[in-house]
Amino acid sequence: MSRAACLLVIISLMSPAAEALDNGLALKPTMGWLHWERFMCNIDCDTDPNNCISEHLYMQMADVMVKEGWKEAGYEYVCIDDCWPSHQRDAQGRLQADPKRFPGGIKKLADYIHSNGLKLGIYADVGDKTCAGYPGSLGYYEKDAQTFADWDVDLLKFDGCFMNRALLGEGYTNMSKALNNTGRPILYSCEWPLYEWPLKQPNYTAIRETCNHWRNFDDVFDSWSSVKSILDWTAAHQDIIVPAAGPGGWNDPDMLVIGNFGLSHDQQESQMALWAIMASPLLMSNDLRDICPRSKELLQNKRIIDISQDSMGKQGYRTAKGNNFEVWERPLSKNRLAVAVLNKLETGGPRGFNIGAAPGWKICGPQCNVTQILPQYKEMGVQTQQSKIIVSVNPSGTALLTVTPISSDFTRLHKLNWQGTFVRRKHTIL
Ligand code: GAL
Repeated sequence: MSRAACLLVIISLMSPAAEALDNGLALKPTMGWLHWERFMCNIDCDTDPNNCISEHLYMQMADVMVKEGWKEAGYEYVCIDDCWPSHQRDAQGRLQADPKRFPGGIKKLADYIHSNGLKLGIYADVGDKTCAGYPGSLGYYEKDAQTFADWDVDLLKFDGCFMNRALLGEGYTNMSKALNNTGRPILYSCEWPLYEWPLKQPNYTAIRETCNHWRNFDDVFDSWSSVKSILDWTAAHQDIIVPAAGPGGWNDPDMLVIGNFGLSHDQQESQMALWAIMASPLLMSNDLRDICPRSKELLQNKRIIDISQDSMGKQGYRTAKGNNFEVWERPLSKNRLAVAVLNKLETGGPRGFNIGAAPGWKICGPQCNVTQILPQYKEMGVQTQQSKIIVSVNPSGTALLTVTPISSDFTRLHKLNWQGTFVRRKHTIL
């Protein structure tokens, strides 16, 4: 191959596979809060007024987000999921919020959220009904998009229940256009590929042009087996889905369930680290009014959030697995690398892993600087390719590190090496 052709290949590999939806939004993975996993379809405000889906829930969450450092940490969107509307559209055919649970209506709620410097997300469905049986948007895309714009909504999560699978692409694309036609920038969160996979391999070029993020796989539950299944699915499909991610459009492995009931602290660290490596939206679904200090500290960890929000916007890959360890690596701006080592063995105690065995460690020739972020912050100083640093990883926990090459000469080589690693898509077995 000529030098010029070689350069072209490298440049094309460095940019995402397709153009992103051109609405100027989600240039970094979206951060915020989304009600579904924690509060589900609890509409019983008579017996459970504090936790039911009502305007109070979002107002209280917004208050806490401002007061308790969430907004400052970067969490910006307060998002409503299913079960917010009335079962009937109004006389003009518009969606309306349940009048008992949202007496002020969505526009007032949006004003309240905005007055706190935050943004409001809402939920609808591409088909006849939402997954919980509320009115769907099929036949009403323009009307619903305009209603959301009139209410000053900032994000739409568009679900895919009760829809003919063969028409998913058309539906998601038409809603994208309808949102665009309102003139209001509304971040568009899709579930198109999730519903399409049973039918055929989704067209990620089209999805990236249409949506700001997209769910690929099952709903997250508050359990380690659920988080593991999402990681396994992602690794198994990474050659298809990772190239589609980049500024403006992201793969969405679903909500962070950190701060709830089902994950140990090590498992919470694993979710946080791996969601950062996967350049995933960081949408928490938990009760910010009552969250344990360790979970809060983890969710607000600036060093992990910096990895998630890295300006280069490249999603990471699982680059190696073996001996019940998995290595996931994400290339970062300034030729740095984030490395996560997940201990999948759910028995015994902490196990040592030689970080020099991570495929990306090659950037340590001649030298690199290593910082451990999880499980504890530790500057590990200057290292070489020959260094043997053993990191200790708890069962179902993750060690997270950043590696910064030192020699500027090597920087150029590193770029080529990264592309090589990804192009070959080889999984080293440790
Ligand atoms: C599911 C969706 C969930 C949640 C739920 C609401 O299909 O994947 O994230 O939105 O519907 O009913």
